[in-house]
Amino acid sequence: MSQLLGDIAAILIGLSGIAVIIGVVLIKRGNRVWHPRVMLTATALAGLFLVFYLLKWGLYGTTRYVGPEEWRGAYYALLISHTFLAALNGPLVIWLIYNALKGRFNIHRAWARWTVPIWLYVAATGWIIDQVLARYGESAGGIRF
Ligand code: HEM
Repeated sequence: MSQLLGDIAAILIGLSGIAVIIGVVLIKRGNRVWHPRVMLTATALAGLFLVFYLLKWGLYGTTRYVGPEEWRGAYYALLISHTFLAALNGPLVIWLIYNALKGRFNIHRAWARWTVPIWLYVAATGWIIDQVLARYGESAGGIRF
């Protein structure tokens, strides 16, 4: 069940990354109708990801890395950068949407240049971390209902 919740979360964050790429392509082609729709879908997918992720966390606690020692450093570098940027991504996305809805597109564009790569990094590394833990993870315990 723990891995299933993790897999659903990983699929959702992966889909949100794909939606962000489609949203960028749309606005580069000048599509101001579908760009917001697709970006808001990407945001909803990322929000759903958070629900599944927190559910997994609450039910099963964290997962410890028990894979090859020579990869431990690389794994933690990925995990720490992923967690830090994921926390940063939330406020950035709210700020982006806020400015877009206010019609402040210069500010929106300037911040979007930073937010999009961060979002894609978080989505890609989230997916990778889930795959690594599916193979080399061990439950570290948590609240059980
Ligand atoms: C989190 C969601 C969003 C992200 C990540 C995002 C990202 C982007 C990106 C990357 C660009 C192109 C920047 C460039 O040309 O280099 C852009 C432009 C634009 N976005 Fe968004 N966007 C989001 C949500 C929205 C929403 C909700 C709206 C509308 C209400 C919107 C309206 C626009 C418009 C009109 C432009 C063109 C601005 C211009 O060139 O003057 N975006 N956005």
